[in-house]
Amino acid sequence: MNCERLRVNLAGLNFKNPTMLASGILGYSAETLKSVVEGGAGAVVTKSVGLKPRTGYANPTVVQVACGLINAMGLPNPGIEEFTRDIREAKNVLDVPLIVSVYGFSAEEYAAVAEKAVKAGADAVELNVSCPHVKETGVEIGQKPEVMAEVVRKVKSAIEKPVFVKLSPNVVDIAEVAEAAVKAGADAITAINAVKAMAIDIETAKPILGNRRGGLSGPAIKPVAVRCVYDIYERVKAPIIGCGGITSWQDAVEFMLAGASAVQIGTAIALKGPRVFSSVIRGLNAYLKRKGFRSVNEIVGLAHRS
Ligand code: DHB
Repeated sequence: MNCERLRVNLAGLNFKNPTMLASGILGYSAETLKSVVEGGAGAVVTKSVGLKPRTGYANPTVVQVACGLINAMGLPNPGIEEFTRDIREAKNVLDVPLIVSVYGFSAEEYAAVAEKAVKAGADAVELNVSCPHVKETGVEIGQKPEVMAEVVRKVKSAIEKPVFVKLSPNVVDIAEVAEAAVKAGADAITAINAVKAMAIDIETAKPILGNRRGGLSGPAIKPVAVRCVYDIYERVKAPIIGCGGITSWQDAVEFMLAGASAVQIGTAIALKGPRVFSSVIRGLNAYLKRKGFRSVNEIVGLAHRS
């Protein structure tokens, strides 16, 4: 759907609509990214990539639970050198902004990976400072505002493209972390990554996932994510990208009323396929029309009016 009402400018990037593919769900290949763009996504975020290749954890890496998935893949990725080929190919076939999710074990590593991603064609990077279970990266950085701020500063000085920072709900005060990220130069905040979780097989009395602990995503975390977006909107001026359990247009509207300028969809694609984008976009457009809004931007943060 190409519609003026749905257009969003986020940190200088033009999206034809506010829906995005969330990181981690569809990997790296140009072909799979293209399938969600054909489904209607306004932008795509790749799975997280680091400086060196990683094989990830032993199986099982995903388990379905009530209202969601728990996953612990362990950041399997081909490393940025290998991945630059996929970025170039994706840029050739995609007509929407391509955002590369980046992780590292130090601020220097984040910056080095971000620099290579941008050189290969990334339109922006999303810093993963919120993976819930890999040691010495992800949330171990995102839970310490000063350490996270140093990562943001290093990346900002290494690249000229927008820097999004994806935050974890596994903190005492997510708005405080968001504020530190914005002060360090973040152009947008993505909220939220998965919630630390686990599942146990009652017959074998053993944790199901190879890594035991993982991250819960999907409808189970939606109310947590909406609250996080609401809290962050009260504290920072930078745009917020809502993420966590969005499966319908009503969910997208709820996140935008809480303060999100765009929304990412992940788990719903695993459960419903890439067509979820077109149903969210159509429903959102019909809602805006029915309520008399000329632009989707007019509903961002409306739930904060007292
Ligand atoms: C993985 C899981 C995450 O929630 C994340 O942010 C990054 C990576 C993983 O298990 O690969």
